[in-house]
Amino acid sequence: MLRQISTSHFKRAAATTSLVAGAMLIAACTANPANAQSDSSRVAVSKSEFTPLTVSSNVVVGKNVHKVTLDFPSPNDSLGMTTAGMLMVQGEKRDGSGTIARPYTPVSRNDTLGKLELIVKDYPNVGNVSSHICAAKPGDKLGVKGCFTKIKVTPNKWKKVGMLAGGSGITPCLQVAEELLSSSDDKTEITLIFCNQTPQDIFLQDHIDALAAKSGGRFKVHYCVDKAGFFDFWKGLTGYVNADMVKKYLPAPADDSMIMVCGPPPMYKAICGGKKFEKGKAPQQGEITGILGDMGFTNTNVFKF
Ligand SMILES: Cc1cc2nc3c(=O)[nH]c(=O)nc-3n(C[C@H](O)[C@H](O)[C@H](O)COP(=O)(O)OP(=O)(O)OC[C@H]3O[C@@H](n4cnc5c(N)ncnc54)[C@H](O)[C@@H]3O)c2cc1C
Ligand SMILES: *[C@@H]1O[C@H](CO)[C@@H](O)[C@H](O)[C@H]1NC(C)=O
Ligand SMILES: *[C@@H]1O[C@H](CO)[C@@H](O)[C@H](O)[C@H]1NC(C)=O
Ligand SMILES: *[C@@H]1O[C@H](CO)[C@@H](O)[C@H](O)[C@H]1NC(C)=O
Repeated sequence: MLRQISTSHFKRAAATTSLVAGAMLIAACTANPANAQSDSSRVAVSKSEFTPLTVSSNVVVGKNVHKVTLDFPSPNDSLGMTTAGMLMVQGEKRDGSGTIARPYTPVSRNDTLGKLELIVKDYPNVGNVSSHICAAKPGDKLGVKGCFTKIKVTPNKWKKVGMLAGGSGITPCLQVAEELLSSSDDKTEITLIFCNQTPQDIFLQDHIDALAAKSGGRFKVHYCVDKAGFFDFWKGLTGYVNADMVKKYLPAPADDSMIMVCGPPPMYKAICGGKKFEKGKAPQQGEITGILGDMGFTNTNVFKF
């Protein structure tokens, strides 16, 4: 997911999504006009144009990783996001030649009113939008467009969900886990393998561990590092994700299970094959190859964010 992507993919996605959203809004108004007009449920972010939102905080939560909070115009506004969703954030290009937008995954959900939260990994000295967001100070404005649904996640849609996240690829996995865990009816067994380069690079561990601890066994987490190095206290997994780890910790291929993958391109390539990028089209899932392909997983039980 960390690959450079042309925004035209998302302009198309935006156009399609806003048509669908428009149709849904008409349906909602017809069914319940009073509710649809209510001020207390205004969606703050447009799917068709960039909405400027004010940064209210920017906190470093890990090495080059920032948690950035954007306030909606009213404390009653909502994000209007169906999980799992993402939005486009605009930023100045590093060379000063204008603005460009990149996709980001809110870690707050639709029931958080008045604000949205992003976790953004900065690529210092090379990143365009990531550096722009991470350099933002309270009071600055960022242009945001969305949200666009990537895969609809509802309680008990699957019996088991496995997640393989690399670095900032944790964001969609967190969004999905928190959405399911927030539902008291949900019984999905979720297992996350969160990969980072070294133990020092792991971020949000307290937050993730707290979610697991209060999940009543529904959410399990395994940390994996490329190299533990001199961290001889390291008790987690070591090395790139391999077939043994997948077999031991994640659900086997089945109609009622799903594996979600989100990480940098080399991680996709090894685990499940890359997404398919065609000029002028939204990114496609592409074939399932790599470790998951060899194990018999297909597009019906793997999702690449
Ligand atoms: C659906 C989706 C959701 C996403 N959600 C998030 C999110 O929640 N949080 C988040 O931080 N990011 C997320 N990303 C990634 C994000 O969209 C950007 O790609 C990323 O922030 C880099 O953008 P940039 O403009 O700063 O750098 P770019 O202008 O894209 O790249 C600048 C330079 O950095 C290099 N570079 C970029 N990314 C990497 C990388 N991963 N490793 C090594 N070099 C790299 C490029 O090759 C280039 O040379 C998401 C991506 C997708 C597709
Ligand atoms: C937010 O909603 C509540 C309840 O509907 C209402 O009383 C309050 O005035 C609203 N606040 C704003 C700033 O719109
Ligand atoms: C988001 O929350 C608002 C306010 O509670 C609600 O009106 C809206 O329907 C929700 N949207 C989605 C997509 O769930
Ligand atoms: C992003 O920044 C680099 C410089 O770090 C620049 O070469 C590149 O063109 C920028 N990308 C875009 C799409 O603006």
